[in-house]
Amino acid sequence: MENFDYCTPTQYVFGRGTEDRVGGLSANCLGNKILLCFGEGSVVRSGLLERVKRSLGAAAVEFIEFGGIQPNPTDDRVYEGIDLCRSHGVTGLLAVGGGSVIDTAKAIAGGVPYRGDFWDFWAGKAVMDRALPVGVVLTIAAAGSEGSGNSVITKIDGAKKVSLRTNVLRPRFSILNPELTMTLPAYQTACGIVDMMAHILERYFSPSADCDVTDRMCEGALKAIVDIAPRVIETPDDYQARANIMWSGTVAHNGICGVGRIEDWTSHAMEHELSAIYGVAHGAGLSVVFPAWIAYVARIKPDKVLQLGSRVFGVSGVDATVGALKNFNRSISMPVTLGELGIDNPDIDLLVRKLHETKGALIGSYCPTDAHASEAIYRLML
Ligand code: NZQ
Ligand code: ZN
Repeated sequence: MENFDYCTPTQYVFGRGTEDRVGGLSANCLGNKILLCFGEGSVVRSGLLERVKRSLGAAAVEFIEFGGIQPNPTDDRVYEGIDLCRSHGVTGLLAVGGGSVIDTAKAIAGGVPYRGDFWDFWAGKAVMDRALPVGVVLTIAAAGSEGSGNSVITKIDGAKKVSLRTNVLRPRFSILNPELTMTLPAYQTACGIVDMMAHILERYFSPSADCDVTDRMCEGALKAIVDIAPRVIETPDDYQARANIMWSGTVAHNGICGVGRIEDWTSHAMEHELSAIYGVAHGAGLSVVFPAWIAYVARIKPDKVLQLGSRVFGVSGVDATVGALKNFNRSISMPVTLGELGIDNPDIDLLVRKLHETKGALIGSYCPTDAHASEAIYRLML
């Protein structure tokens, strides 16, 4: 095990009806004037936004609405939000939605107190040491941004999709009502399931040895997700299934599955290029990338692949493990090739070039990936 320093300050408020507490929590944690961030309309159609506004009103929290945030969120909305916050003297941000809304709120929160360009933090030119407080009402179990210190933003100029991780951006509170996820289309539910499994696998594949507790926690969470996934897809209004999937999504990415070891994150880096260039949903992209990455690293370092196969999928052998992961993804109607993802003529040279321009010559830790390896991995997705 490596040394670690783990702090997760987020207050998780879980269960039915918990969104009614958003006014009180905002008044306590975000101040009296907030930027109310949401997406392209699901929270309007479901009535959630109205309920949130009522609760904020009852707690005397003023809000400025900032809607229309799109999936794979972009820097233009962050600049717009920073200007709005500054001109209205906003004290905190409330994100009502999924990873895209939360990540935009986090980026604005970090940009407001900074004199320079907020992108400096994502470009590695500055270190974020403060941010306005952020609260969350989560509507999709997927990205895990409700518990993470990450914010993933795409710079439109150059289509650069970059993740920043800092404890400063961890939400002050996250309201998790599984009922709010029942309106999700099966496709989005499945994308979320793949993404949360990927967040665990990125931590599971590590060069650090003797992390038995963390390994077993990862395997337990993965097994629970694999077991519950069919139920949540077949019966979208099954509260207990939704509840387990929602909490899995948070546990997968709030850091507890990574303590004591170096993490990998090659597959996420490779997927971020796919969603930056081709606009695919993050989870669907990962459904194609992860089995290909595992198949590649298994040739060099098979041990952890074999452990995953036997402990999570009950199979032996590297091919059987990759096959089991692909079969699982297919069973929830997720793609496993670039063609199935809708990318018929992928520009592999462009993907590889952008990947290493953005993320460096060597990526990841389990089997550090150079341009030769990343090209081979992209080709395994064909
Ligand atoms: O925009 P609306 O109308 O709300 O619709 C959204 C969107 O179209 C819809 N949706 C969300 N909740 C719904 C719903 N539709 C019906 N009922 C509901 N209850 O779902 C669609 C996808 O939403 P989005 O927020 O994009 O999904 P997700 O949570 O998967 O976030 C994806 C983004 O997060 C990044 C991804 O790269 C991507 O940009 N990630 C963020 C991470 C983090 N901050 O820690 C880690 C992840 O690895 C990931 O990279
Ligand atoms: Zn992810």
